[in-house]
Amino acid sequence: MFIENFKVDSPNVKYTESEIHSLYNYETTELVHENKNGTYQWTVKPKTVKYEFKTDVHVPKLGVMLVGWGGNNGSTLTGGVIANREGISWATKDKVQRANYFGSLTQASSIRVGSFNGEEIYAPFKSLLPMVNPEDIVFGGWDISNMNLADAMARARVFDIDLQKQLRPYMENMVPLPGIYNPDFIAANQGSRANNVIKGTKKEQVQQIIEDMREFKEKNKVDKVVVLWTANTERYSNVIVGLNDTVENLFASLEKNEAEISPSTLYAIACILENIPFINGSPQNTFVPGLIDLAIQRNSLIGGDDFKSGQTKMKSVLVDFLVGAGIKPTSIVSYNHLGNNDGMNLSAPQTFRSKEISKSNVVDDMVASNGILYEPGEHPDHVVVIKYVPYVGDSKRAMDEYTSEIFMGGTNTIVLHNTCEDSLLAAPIILDLVLLAELSTRIQLKAEAEGKFHSFHPVATILSYLSKAPLVPPGTPVVNALSKQRAMLENIMRACVGLAPENNMILEYK
Ligand code: NAI
Repeated sequence: MFIENFKVDSPNVKYTESEIHSLYNYETTELVHENKNGTYQWTVKPKTVKYEFKTDVHVPKLGVMLVGWGGNNGSTLTGGVIANREGISWATKDKVQRANYFGSLTQASSIRVGSFNGEEIYAPFKSLLPMVNPEDIVFGGWDISNMNLADAMARARVFDIDLQKQLRPYMENMVPLPGIYNPDFIAANQGSRANNVIKGTKKEQVQQIIEDMREFKEKNKVDKVVVLWTANTERYSNVIVGLNDTVENLFASLEKNEAEISPSTLYAIACILENIPFINGSPQNTFVPGLIDLAIQRNSLIGGDDFKSGQTKMKSVLVDFLVGAGIKPTSIVSYNHLGNNDGMNLSAPQTFRSKEISKSNVVDDMVASNGILYEPGEHPDHVVVIKYVPYVGDSKRAMDEYTSEIFMGGTNTIVLHNTCEDSLLAAPIILDLVLLAELSTRIQLKAEAEGKFHSFHPVATILSYLSKAPLVPPGTPVVNALSKQRAMLENIMRACVGLAPENNMILEYK
């Protein structure tokens, strides 16, 4: 059965006008190991840590500024949200289709709240905590192409034509602000698009982005802004001692107009200086060490990298299942071809390399979790190929072959072929990223030993379900397995309303 919403009734939870306050017992373990005559003996001690969570229930009016607003993802997300807001439906050759949010964790998935008369009861994911309604978001942003959003939607060739016609009046007056363009960081084939660029030195460009964000906030009367990079994939920046390795060096390099500071890093600097959350939806290393330190110093949220939309999402489910089942993946080979502008940009070796890196580490945690299957340091062969094939447009093809060793030396080969509009997968993920980033800035927590409440660490691991290569604070484990990432997010939100983590034990019926 499905219910729309619920309230928690517990001595540990207080709902007031301004906040939800919860007391929460975090059940964890403490590990001890001793060297006994050359062999390590491990002891696991169960441990309970008392936490308090405070969630501000005031849902702000939210502005979302996309870098690369006029791209396929930017125009698809903007059009999709307008279509939902306006209740638009359109004729396809099969049926009359209504706007929806399928593919969005926050808007279209559910959580289990318990059992009632022998039935499992579910509620919308978004009913856990007060969240911004996507239809109230004001969209804006930058693009190095000056095309208005209606024409950009047509250029993207993602939506059905009847839908495009209905959306056009809402989108033709939406024009991206000039963006920071540096041809050295993206493929040369993007040059003809760049007719809307900010002039000046890098420092002046950062200043312009700051002014743009202030003006956007003022003009649209929004309480908060979140910025998200959905612009072209850049090449990796070189991380160099003295250049971008510390906050001081990064700022000194900005003063010197150093060539190696990428556009995405410049937008991120502007956001951190304004305490505006910045999320990177592409694979490049925007977050150079000096920038991560700046975000930590200023306690300003950063998150990324690279939307986890299709092939990688599947990989982080399938390999988790195989390794979890005691089966040993030995070779994973992934071919992609796509024909959109992202594909054209990725046809350059330097930008492809960024994607290859971000796709490559996704099975590491699962492989490392099973020492019965893998020797220390052993790893399956893992190869990723991406080709640009203009004809298929945004409809990306992903073909994967997983070969595994099974019982008694047997071999199991699974082959997948996935065809899907890339932007229809990415747009709901962008929505989740901005909504969850906003929500996480309203949550404060405190462990019993800590004197005062604090926000989550500015490097937002809470967004990792949505990221291909989750950015984590130094010294933090990276979790790629999709079910664990989802459970982490859901269970933290449950903790905020004093609910125990979903343990799937169903002891009531045992
Ligand atoms: P797109 O090429 O259609 O859009 C990118 C837009 O960014 C273009 O309009 C371009 O003019 C603009 N742009 C480039 N550099 C800029 C800058 N410095 N400042 C402002 N605007 C700039 O690409 P699409 O399909 O929308 O994808 C966007 C990004 O998302 C790509 O990096 C892609 O790799 C990443 N991504 C997409 C996924 C998907 O499923 N669609 C999945 C994972 C990542």
